[in-house]
Amino acid sequence: MALYRLIYVSQATSTVGYPELVSIMAQSERNNQKVGITGMLSFGDSMFLQVLEGSRRVVSQTYNRILVDPRHTNAELIDFSEIEHRDFGLWSMKAIQIESQPELRNIILKYSSSSTFSPISMTGKQSLNFLREITNLYQAG
Ligand SMILES: Cc1cc2nc3c(=O)[nH]c(=O)nc-3n(C[C@H](O)[C@H](O)[C@H](O)COP(=O)(O)O)c2cc1C
Repeated sequence: MALYRLIYVSQATSTVGYPELVSIMAQSERNNQKVGITGMLSFGDSMFLQVLEGSRRVVSQTYNRILVDPRHTNAELIDFSEIEHRDFGLWSMKAIQIESQPELRNIILKYSSSSTFSPISMTGKQSLNFLREITNLYQAG
């Protein structure tokens, strides 16, 4: 079955912090594992950048559910493509909080005009490469 990748960026609503991230992760791991979705969710400076991989149907269904979640707003779709293989297959969903990871600042700077996490101003390719590089960092560690 064809595999798809979806990347979006969104703005966290004001009440969202670490406890909400933990609860999103618990829901995501449980649901994604059941339907074969893998991916990564990065969160920093009140922005989410998430990649989802899986069949077109489950990626679409999951994205539609995520879109109406009141914990974020102003979602913008960055990428929805057919892919040959998964890049984030190790995790049903891996959350990375950017503020707590100073070593990530160099990776942000590599793909942005400053070291502030601003996924809204990244191109599709930059956001994918940014997420891939974070994955490599965590796999290596
Ligand atoms: C930024 C963000 C990312 C999310 N990512 C996922 C996800 O990857 N998978 C998922 O099932 N739910 C995700 N959610 C949660 C969904 O919006 C929704 O609350 C959840 O799927 C409902 O699941 P439940 O009915 O099992 O509690 C995310 C929510 C937010 C705010």
